[in-house]
Amino acid sequence: CGIIGCVGRGDRTVETLLSGLSTLEYRGYDSAGIALANGSIDVVKKQGELDALEQVVDTTTLSGSVGIGHTRWSTHGPPSDRNAHPHTDTEGNVAVVHNGIIENYQELRDELEREGVVFTSDTDSEVVPHLMARSLHEGASPRDAFRDAISQLEGSYAIAAVVAGADTIFAVRQDSPLVLGIDDDAYYLASDVPAFLEYTRDVVYLEDGQFAELRADGWTVFDHEGTETTPTVDTVEWSAEQTGKSGYDHFMLKEINEQPTALRQCLSGRVDEVSGGVTVDELDDLDTPSAVQFVACGTSYHAALYATTLLHEVGIPANAYLASEYATTHPPLPNDTLVVGITQSGETADTLSALRNAESRGAETLALTNVVGSSAARECDHALYLRAGPEIGVAATKTFSSQLVGVNLLVERLRPSGSPTGELRSLIAGLRDLPGHVQQVLDDSTALELVDELFGAEAFFFIGRGLHYPVALEGALKFKEITYEHAEGFAAGELKHGPLALVTENTPVFAIVTGDDEEARKTLGNIKEVEARDAPVVAVTDGKAEVERYADYVLEIPETHERTSPVLANVQLQLVAYHMAARLGRSIDKPRNLAKSVTVE
Ligand code: G6P
Repeated sequence: CGIIGCVGRGDRTVETLLSGLSTLEYRGYDSAGIALANGSIDVVKKQGELDALEQVVDTTTLSGSVGIGHTRWSTHGPPSDRNAHPHTDTEGNVAVVHNGIIENYQELRDELEREGVVFTSDTDSEVVPHLMARSLHEGASPRDAFRDAISQLEGSYAIAAVVAGADTIFAVRQDSPLVLGIDDDAYYLASDVPAFLEYTRDVVYLEDGQFAELRADGWTVFDHEGTETTPTVDTVEWSAEQTGKSGYDHFMLKEINEQPTALRQCLSGRVDEVSGGVTVDELDDLDTPSAVQFVACGTSYHAALYATTLLHEVGIPANAYLASEYATTHPPLPNDTLVVGITQSGETADTLSALRNAESRGAETLALTNVVGSSAARECDHALYLRAGPEIGVAATKTFSSQLVGVNLLVERLRPSGSPTGELRSLIAGLRDLPGHVQQVLDDSTALELVDELFGAEAFFFIGRGLHYPVALEGALKFKEITYEHAEGFAAGELKHGPLALVTENTPVFAIVTGDDEEARKTLGNIKEVEARDAPVVAVTDGKAEVERYADYVLEIPETHERTSPVLANVQLQLVAYHMAARLGRSIDKPRNLAKSVTVE
């Protein structure tokens, strides 16, 4: 979601909010809204892209020079007018915009409902205006009412609020971006700098736990205890061309770098280290099936392959099908089979068609998707949301990582009771560490230098075994999608059964190998076969298997759980593909002949 706020823009407030929202639309575009505060609060909000809101605004008289706005990417509740932000309290004295996830919202909502509050949306965000209203009724000042509401929240959030009669925007940040814009006579806040870049380049990046207040006569930042701080004002030097990409050259690189945040959001409130449990609210009424079939396309199919291995580990038979082949090959559907469509967009025609085929034959269906309210989410019996935020680059990156994590949540949720759970605690530790480990890979990767070494090769091969096999396929797919170079992925053990004929000193082979078990030793054997044909070997490794001895180049990943290491290996391969494509001057965000979501079969 994207947040904007401004004070000091006089009768240009509405125009400023709308233009800010238009630069934030890449953060979500299923609904939008604005609120203006004067003696009272005026709110206009609308489902759909920003145009829909603009049309309503054109027919409305809005006044006030203190305003907030929001463009939404659904996490709780489908896109609709009522779920659009800003949300208000019952009397309409408080309006709030929120980005993030309030993990304890159900508890807070239950409590408020017991006190007689009537909710008008399905969102987690709506608890905030009601909590503020309760404090205001008890005599708190607007500032204290805001603090008091925030102190009750658990989760991640960037929140901005306005209160009737107080010419102030109250804001706070916790694990969700929020930046202030400082001009001579006007002040702004937004999820991302481009939202106010046409007015000022002077910015204050809020830190987690900090509060801010913007008034016509100035701005103040407080720490979490309420003590005033003196933050640094930075000046950004971005060109207009970079706006929306937060300074990155391409959305793809931005999205690769957003992975730690995406994964945090995916895990938020769903894993509990203390009890060692996995909870997925959306799947409360899902029973453990006797078998699972996955249907998916492209990158999502690779997540499906990974998922089958995980299900086998917990003793549930599973198969992955290319969605476009599903109906044609008539796979039998034994009773009590769950059919899972993995689709980031939720709109891929092949996947929808396979799900409909399964549904028509009586199967229970589930969508693992990033898009709340998408066709797959609406049509399936269950939906598990990735919460990765919108992905603009055609080549899937952060959504694939989130799919691998989402699949772990699903599998643990389906784990038959009575099967061993000792492993679960170490898995949860691996998942908890994953965002930080991905950040480490992003910070330390030597993929850029490697690209110089491999530039001009004839073809690029990728091999892996077990959970690294889908990553080898995905590494090759990403590489061919955006570089237009010939790339293929193989199961490491399969190389000798044919593809080895293609291996020469002009075909670098990327080999993923982690741990030092039997599997790793076998992959090492395959690497030696490649080395013997003089092919340059790039090992993507945690260093345990001592593959460095046979590899020409190494892309390192931190040592972690065997289920999370494929995510880290994949981040390295994303960076290799990206840097090679950049070096070749390719159209990275919109590769030729491809579309983000293919809605024809
Ligand atoms: C298109 C995209 C791929 C994507 C596939 C499946 O072909 O170009 O990047 O993996 O669709 O998309 P989905 O939204 O169903 O995951």
